[in-house]
Amino acid sequence: MENLFIGTSPNIQKDDIWLIFKLLLQPWKWGRQEYVKDFESQMAEYLGGEVHSVAFDSARTSLFQLLKAWEIGGGDEVIVPSFTCVVVVNPILELGAKPVYIDTDPVTLNIDLEDLSSKVTKNTKAILVQHTFGIPVDVKRVREIVGPDVIIIEDLAHYLHPKAISVESDAAILTFGIEKMMTSMRGGMAVVKDGNEKIFEKLVAAQSEAKRFGRWRIFKWLLNPLIWAVATPTYFWGFGRMSFGRLLSKLGHKLGMMGNAMEVCEYRGCFPNWMPAKMPGALAILGMNQLGKLDVLNEHRSRIAGIYEGKLEKKNSNIKDYFPLRYPLLVKNPAEVKAVFRKKHVIIGNWYERILYTRPEYLKDLQLDLLDIPNTVKITKHIINLPTFIKVSKNDAREIADTVKPYLLDHLP
Ligand SMILES: Cc1ncc(COP(=O)(O)O)c(C=O)c1O
Repeated sequence: MENLFIGTSPNIQKDDIWLIFKLLLQPWKWGRQEYVKDFESQMAEYLGGEVHSVAFDSARTSLFQLLKAWEIGGGDEVIVPSFTCVVVVNPILELGAKPVYIDTDPVTLNIDLEDLSSKVTKNTKAILVQHTFGIPVDVKRVREIVGPDVIIIEDLAHYLHPKAISVESDAAILTFGIEKMMTSMRGGMAVVKDGNEKIFEKLVAAQSEAKRFGRWRIFKWLLNPLIWAVATPTYFWGFGRMSFGRLLSKLGHKLGMMGNAMEVCEYRGCFPNWMPAKMPGALAILGMNQLGKLDVLNEHRSRIAGIYEGKLEKKNSNIKDYFPLRYPLLVKNPAEVKAVFRKKHVIIGNWYERILYTRPEYLKDLQLDLLDIPNTVKITKHIINLPTFIKVSKNDAREIADTVKPYLLDHLP
């Protein structure tokens, strides 16, 4: 098996690397917004055409802009999953609204609909619906529970395909982060349905007022996949911690050349002051190249998940349009399983082994009480995610499934 790292530019292929080299030599294209406009319209078309897409520096900024456009602020409640990443909570805090966390269904890893019913109040203004690891939430049921006036925003971070957006929702956020369904290295879009023209106009105005992404930041993001393209295959060349790939990636980090998906302060609830920012043209060009092959990336995910399902006797593949970004499993002891895979040079995923992907001491700042989310607390102790990305071969998938099988938990203890 070649080295398989779930988190280091998993979607980047030779054509993307070639494109990045060309972009590095064409800095005059980096900031141009006409590429961003093209990317927005290609994405709207990909999603079925009855939507408007407005690009920003990330999904977190897109969520911020959507909530702001709907005038959500002090005294309002926004419902979020608790099995997610802190960066989607921070825009809510930044606007002075209150995040309300929903416990997790241990089978689907999506929001628990019964818990949702008990937490909707007259102050609920919006809900973020995340289709965790590509398992769709029943958005129709969510609409019945929250009522007609609550804004439903779908988080398509793990679930991006032409039929992803439900007729029941009002909007969606897309992310093109490094480890997501497709990547522009950093970037995201706010998507609103036809009929929400006023919100769309506000988003367009917000985009033109947003800050510039900054050339140094663009340069760092363009370098990231190039460094990983060398560091991944060479990661274990050498002795222990002194291997070539490891030293190269360390050097890249030290020199600030690796991009940075999260700033230190974001772990405790901040919204960095360089945001909200525009998506730069260079990253939009990369995004369009990836969008052109998103269906191929997705079909591969489906195929690899099918092999896991067959070998591990699971049944998610009965789901229509199942293209899991990562394949989630519960195991007795994730640290032990990670170490076993590491010996095989496979780095598996850990989403979301820490609650909100942050430290326990920051949860108070994030207004989260663990007593409200008992299942999420248990799940985080047992979750691992297997890779489904394009470089995982069918043989790799069989070997990965055989390796993990002895460690599986059937249900939460
Ligand atoms: C489920 C989910 N949604 C949204 C985001 C945010 O995406 P972005 O990095 O583009 O802000 C993340 C984390 O990065 C995530 O895990």
